[in-house]
Amino acid sequence: MEEKGFLAKITQLNIEDGATKWSSPSNIALVKYWGKREQQIPENASISFTLNNCKTITNLTYTKKENKTDFNFDVFLDGEKKDDFKPKIETFFNRVSKYLSFLKDFHFKIETENTFPHSSGIASSASGMSAIAACLMSIDKQLNPEMSEDFILKKTSFLARLGSGSACRSLEGDLVVWGKHEIIKGSSNLYGVNFPFETHKNFKNYQDTILLVDKGEKQVSSTIGHNLMHNHPFAQQRFIQANENLEKITTILQNGNLDQFIALVESEALTLHAMMMTSMPYFILMKPNTLEIINKIWAFRKATNSKVCFTLDAGANVHVLYPESEKVSVLQFIKNELVAYCQNGHYICDSIGKGLEQL
Ligand code: PMV
Repeated sequence: MEEKGFLAKITQLNIEDGATKWSSPSNIALVKYWGKREQQIPENASISFTLNNCKTITNLTYTKKENKTDFNFDVFLDGEKKDDFKPKIETFFNRVSKYLSFLKDFHFKIETENTFPHSSGIASSASGMSAIAACLMSIDKQLNPEMSEDFILKKTSFLARLGSGSACRSLEGDLVVWGKHEIIKGSSNLYGVNFPFETHKNFKNYQDTILLVDKGEKQVSSTIGHNLMHNHPFAQQRFIQANENLEKITTILQNGNLDQFIALVESEALTLHAMMMTSMPYFILMKPNTLEIINKIWAFRKATNSKVCFTLDAGANVHVLYPESEKVSVLQFIKNELVAYCQNGHYICDSIGKGLEQL
């Protein structure tokens, strides 16, 4: 599908005031997206596990208004008005207005809550932007009842991408690919698609325990981070490597080779951080405790033959990934040896989830 397929059709506004509520999860990338072009087009393909417990729940109330020249909305987080969220939503509305005909017809009340603590250092943009995209698509569906379920999913992902790139990978489980790649049939730079192959049983219900090393605000916003890949000395090589890794992981996810999975996923995480360390200006987003945890994981793996591994987002927190069959032993290891490195001992147990849910 091309971009123009998502443009708003001229329709009559024949719907009443109403409300719609969706929950959408976060996701954790295995092959990372880092670097983009205009309009949130990724420089390389990426793939992520959809999470189950880290979710945003958004209730969107829409009321017709007289003045149709501007967007009009209020945002609430946990019942509290959040005017500092407005610029991001305003930018999002501006980006998506040509794909949704009704944005200036309504006043929107956006009430949102996260199942994970707000100040946990976990990015809520993927879950938040995909939840709001799903709410807007509920309205669009009423205006365009002929849209197929498949098209609605694609358009929801398309809109979510315009809010936050990685948000387009949050709508379905278990694995979603975003970015055009020759071996993933139907893949696109415009929206995420379900991983189209049968996944090996080793990856069923894979576990992700998120160790909260640093709950503070992100040191570098992802917008700034992505921009640092422009003129980055290693950028082109990185984009080639990511696309090669996507091909490799496609095989691994089918053959169930956990040693190869570990090597690829940990290398991706460290490469993401290496890109930040070698950009100008440069950043170190890991904390000493991030490294302590990584070393403990390596030592545990060596001592026990466990298949536990780590990945990182653009921050200090560590995602500990492991097969469901190791749930008891790895959780014990986390409690015994890793919790001490978490801020206030906090961590979140998550696993692969199914994506969007209408409430
Ligand atoms: O979606 P953004 O613009 O916040 O970028 C997210 C980038 C990473 O989380 C670091 C990697 C990824 O692919 O999710």
